This record gives sequence, C-alpha cells and structure tokens, in this order.
Amino acid sequence: MPRITHLECTRCGQKLSAATPQTVCPKDGGVLYARYDLKAIKGTFSPAQLRGRACTMWRYADVMPEAEPVSLGEGFTPILPSREYLNVYIKDEGLNPTGSFKARGLSAAVTMAKHYGLKKLAIPSAGNAAGALAAYAAAAGIEAHIFMPKDVPMANRIESEYYGAYVTLVDGLISDCARMVGEHKQIEGWFDVSTLKEPFRVEGKKTMGYEVAEQLGWRMPQGIIYPTGGGVGMIGMWKAFDEMEQLGWIGPERPQMITVQSAGCAPIVKAWDEGKTAAEMWPNAATKAAGLRVPKAYGDYLILDILRQSGGAAVAVTDEEILDAVHHWARVEGIFAAPEGAAALAAYRKLRENGFFDGEDTVVLFNTGTGLKYLDTTEDCRQHSRERLPTSRQIAGIIGPY
Ligand SMILES: Cc1ncc(COP(=O)(O)O)c(C=O)c1O
Ligand SMILES: [Zn+2]
Repeated sequence: MPRITHLECTRCGQKLSAATPQTVCPKDGGVLYARYDLKAIKGTFSPAQLRGRACTMWRYADVMPEAEPVSLGEGFTPILPSREYLNVYIKDEGLNPTGSFKARGLSAAVTMAKHYGLKKLAIPSAGNAAGALAAYAAAAGIEAHIFMPKDVPMANRIESEYYGAYVTLVDGLISDCARMVGEHKQIEGWFDVSTLKEPFRVEGKKTMGYEVAEQLGWRMPQGIIYPTGGGVGMIGMWKAFDEMEQLGWIGPERPQMITVQSAGCAPIVKAWDEGKTAAEMWPNAATKAAGLRVPKAYGDYLILDILRQSGGAAVAVTDEEILDAVHHWARVEGIFAAPEGAAALAAYRKLRENGFFDGEDTVVLFNTGTGLKYLDTTEDCRQHSRERLPTSRQIAGIIGPY
C-alpha cells in the first residue's frame, strides 16, 4: 500500500492517481494535494519516533512521498529566539542548501520527478526556485530548463549556470516566464514544476509546519509571518497543521497566518483588504524583494482562504522598510536576511504597533533566504547603513575605502 493514497483537487475534490505524474486538476485547473492514509499512519508514526532521525525535512518521511529522496540536507533549520523581542522566533531558512526555503519544495519535486523517470524539468522562477531546481536536478542527473527575469539577483543566475541548468533570461516578470514555459513545454518534452502546478513542492514546504510544531514542543505559536509570493510555504504549513491534527499530534488550535508582501507588488494584500476570494494581476510589479515580485499567485484562493480561516492578516511593507529591516536584523540578531525574509520583521513591527500582536504572543517570523544571495540588489541597504552608522565612515576614513 503506497503512502499516498491519491491526489485531490482543492477546488472540486476530484481524486487522481499519484502513480503517474500529474499537474493540476484536469476539470478546473485546481491545485492538487497529496493525500495519505493518515489513520493508518497514526498507528505507526508518533513524535517520539522522530528522536534520532536525520536532521533534514525527510525526518517526516512517513507523511512524505514514498520515493528515494534527492536530498542535499534541506530542512530542520534553526528556530532562533529573537534577541530583540521576547516570544518572537526567527525560523532561519537561509541556512538551507542553495540559501533559501525553495530547497524544500524542489527536493520533493525532483525526488518525485526522478521516481517517475522524468528527464527534463522546466521552471519559471523569481530567482531562488531556479537555483534550487538547478541544484537538485544536478544531484538527480535530470535536465533543468530555467526561465527567470533578466534582473534577478546575480547569484541566482550564476548558481543555476554552475549547476548545469539551461538558463533563459526573460525581459519581463515571473508571469512572462510562466507563459514561456507553457508555450514551449509540450514541444520540448519538459515537465513543468511551476509553483502549485505540480503537487510535490507543497509536500516539501509543508515540512516547515511540522518543524515549527516540533521545535516549539508541539505547541502552536500565536502567529506566523510568511513573506508571500506564490504562497507555497503558507499553503504547505496549513496542510501540515491539518495532517498533524489528524495524526493526533496537535489539537484544533492554529496560528494566525500573516502574509507579508512588498507595497510594490501586493496582490494578496489588496484582495484581502477588499474581502475578495481571489487576487487580480498586479500591474507594474516592482520591488527589491525579488521573490515577492509575483503579480498573480496561482494559489491565491488557497492563501486568502487560509488567512480567513486562521484569523490572520495581509500586510504590505515598503522596500524602504524592508531594507531597514535587513540592516536591523543583521546588526541586532546577527542574521543577514534576504529582503523577502526581512519583510517579516517589517510586518511584525507594524502588527505590534497597531496592536494585532502584543508582547505576550509567540510569533514565528520566516526568514526565507540568506542575504548573501542579494549582494548586488541590496546596495541601497549598504548606502543606508553608511548614512546611519557614522562610526563606519570614520573607520573607513582611517583604513581606506569602505
Ligand atoms: C527568499 C524568498 N522568500 C519568499 C519567496 C516567496 O515564496 P512563495 O512563492 O513560496 O510565496 C521567494 C520566492 O521566490 C523567495 O525566493
Ligand atoms: Zn478540480
């Protein structure tokens, strides 16, 4: 009996087999979720069994696809108590292989691609997913075809090329990249591993939900702040919480899920503010937080539903606030975050100011990637820090150019 019983459409509930590669629901394009026989798994899998298991996301193998993992050591990242705010934790996803949480989703997707015998994968990416696919495809001996905006952080392009991927730089946004993958995949024989258009990236990302619960001693935090582009992590964590409840590991309590987006591309925030169940395409998307430059999320209806069900919120923060948070986290926490990740701090500040959270609330902020991949794009941040740190300038004056 395979662990996954079937795939299920999140719109119409149609069941599909997981024995062959699937994309989205053939009837209505809905996102497919992998479903497990959790009743049977409950009898054999408990938190006590995690002791001594590998410190990667594959420690939760019992609720993951049954296939030989293509792993580079992803997951089980530290959850660090903030040095600034009591009851705040920073889940540092920058410590993953390829420097971002995208490693989790792509490890799972490439694992299943290899399992199915797929030879060529394609991805539209805002940057980090491209690097992650390229790395896991290299490890699996599979071709990776990458389409990303030509102005992605340089590290994403360079790492993808090093990993041996076929890289196309597109004069446009991730939505244009997605269109190009769609236009070429049939003729080229590519399998499309776009966000939420295959079922297993969610399975990789859901492990963040298992980890938050395990690392907090199986207690749910009051809130989780998640920098949202396509929203796979939020969707995955919510799925994980439901699974954990069915396994009897947690009760019906849930964190308030918070989406943070950049004010220069905030389609989910706009839809949330307008009380809508789906988002509209955001025109002229622009932000330094490259991973948040997603003008239309395929799983928008799922994200908005989670915000509603959890009593959460959607918050927009400006690039200036994001860059200030990058700088602040680096100096105060010793964490050099990706701009997307630092957006979580900017959102937390707002939610404390407006009283949504108070100092008693346990809140987990997701730093989704490392700042080391953004050295070219966070130049503004450095300028900013120069202005604010006269001592640096003074020292620079003594020892030479800063
Ligand atoms: C560092 C970082 N954070 C957040 C995101 C947004 O992730 P998601 O599309 O899963 O919402 C991305 C996407 O590229 C990213 O690279
Ligand atoms: Zn359907």
